[in-house]
Amino acid sequence: MGKYNFDQLIDRHGSGAMKVDSLNEFFGRDDLLGLWIADMDFAVSPRIREALSRRIEHPVYGYAGAPQSYWDSITGWLARRHNWNVKREEITYIPGVVKGIALAINFFTQRGDKVVIQPPVYHPFRMVTEGNDRVVVNNPLIFDGESYRMDLEGLERIFRDEHPKMMILCNPHNPVGIQWSVDVLQEVARLAKKYGVTVVSDEIHADLMLYGKPHFPFASVSPEAAEVSITLGAPSKTFNIAGLVSSWCVVKNPKLREPFFHWLMVNEFDAPTFIATIGTEAAYTQGEDWLDEMLEYIEGTIAEVEEIVAEKLPDIKVIRPEASFLVWLDCRGLCMSHDELIKLFVNKAHLALNDGAMFGAEGSGFMRLNIGSPRSVIRYSLESLADALASVCAE
Ligand SMILES: Cc1ncc(COP(=O)(O)O)c(C=O)c1O
Repeated sequence: MGKYNFDQLIDRHGSGAMKVDSLNEFFGRDDLLGLWIADMDFAVSPRIREALSRRIEHPVYGYAGAPQSYWDSITGWLARRHNWNVKREEITYIPGVVKGIALAINFFTQRGDKVVIQPPVYHPFRMVTEGNDRVVVNNPLIFDGESYRMDLEGLERIFRDEHPKMMILCNPHNPVGIQWSVDVLQEVARLAKKYGVTVVSDEIHADLMLYGKPHFPFASVSPEAAEVSITLGAPSKTFNIAGLVSSWCVVKNPKLREPFFHWLMVNEFDAPTFIATIGTEAAYTQGEDWLDEMLEYIEGTIAEVEEIVAEKLPDIKVIRPEASFLVWLDCRGLCMSHDELIKLFVNKAHLALNDGAMFGAEGSGFMRLNIGSPRSVIRYSLESLADALASVCAE
C-alpha cells in the first residue's frame, strides 16, 4: 500500500458535486451510481488541502494577484513533466479549458466561420462552436475495431475545400484515450500552417499519461505547431481540483499571443481567484507523488476492468486508454439499439455513465466509464451491469 488511500469511500452527496448531486437533472433519476462527469472520487492531495486551508484561515478575502511563484510552478511543471519550455510571457490564466476554447473561438473567428472537430470527441467542442454561431465541420476519427487513428487525408480535404479558420484538437483525446504521436501532430501542424488554420490544442488530460508513455505537447512538435497553436491545460483533471476553476493558456507565436492576451487582460478574463492560484501552485510543486500513485492505481483498475469485462461481459470490448481515467467501452457486441443500451445502464443496472452518442454519432453503441473511483465501486458497477444484462436476456 502506498502513501495515499485510493480505496477510501468518500460520500460526496451534499457537497455540490455534479457527479452525485445532479443525477436527476441529467439522467432523470437519483438512484444511480455516478460514473460519468470527469472528476474523481479520490481525496485531493493533503498538500493542496493544507495550502488552501491556510489561506482560508486568513480572515480577509480581497482581490488576489498571481505571484511569480504561481507562474514558476506551471512553467516548472511543463518543463519537468513534459520537457516543454514555456516562458512567463507565453502563458496566462484562463477560467477553465472550455471557457478558454470559447474565448479563442470568439477572438480568432467570426460568426459563420468553420471549426474542425474530430468526433467522437468531448461534446463541448461542438456545443461551444455552435453556441457561438460558428459552423462545426467533422473529421471523424477512424476506428478499426481495436483502436482509433486520425484521418489526416480527411483533414487535408477539409482544410483545402472548406477553408475552416480553426481546429480544436484533443491531445490526449477524450473519450478514446489516445495520445497523438509526434508524426501525426507534425502533420496536423504542417497542414494547419499550409491552409491558415489556428489549432486550439486542449491538453487537459496531458498529465494523466499511463504505462509510462510520454505526452507530446502539440506546440512542441515543430516550429509550425508553435506558430499556429493555442494550448489549453489545467491542473484540474490531474489533481482532482476542477472545482477550483484554474486553467492556463500558452501561445508561443507573438502574432497570435499579443492581441489575444491583451483582449483577455482588458476584459479581465485572465484574473484568477486566490483559490485558483494557491491550489495550482500547491498541486504543481507538491502534488507529484500523489499523482504518480494515483496513476498507478488507475492502471491497476484498468487491468481489473479488462478482467471482469472479459469474464462477465464478453460482448463488451474495453478500449484501453493511453491516458486518463476514462474508459471507452464498445458495447456494439450487445446488439442493442443505442436507446436500449442506455436503458440497460440507467434503468436496469442503475449506473450513470456518459452515453457515447453525446460525443458524436460515431459514439453510438459506446459508453464512457469514469474509473476515477475506488476499485470496489468499479467492481460493483460491472457486476451490476452483468446482472442487469442477464436479467434483460432472460426477459
Ligand atoms: C477534453 C476536455 N476538455 C475540457 C474539459 C473541461 O475542462 P474545464 O472544466 O476546465 O472547462 C474536459 C472535462 O472533462 C475534457 O475532457
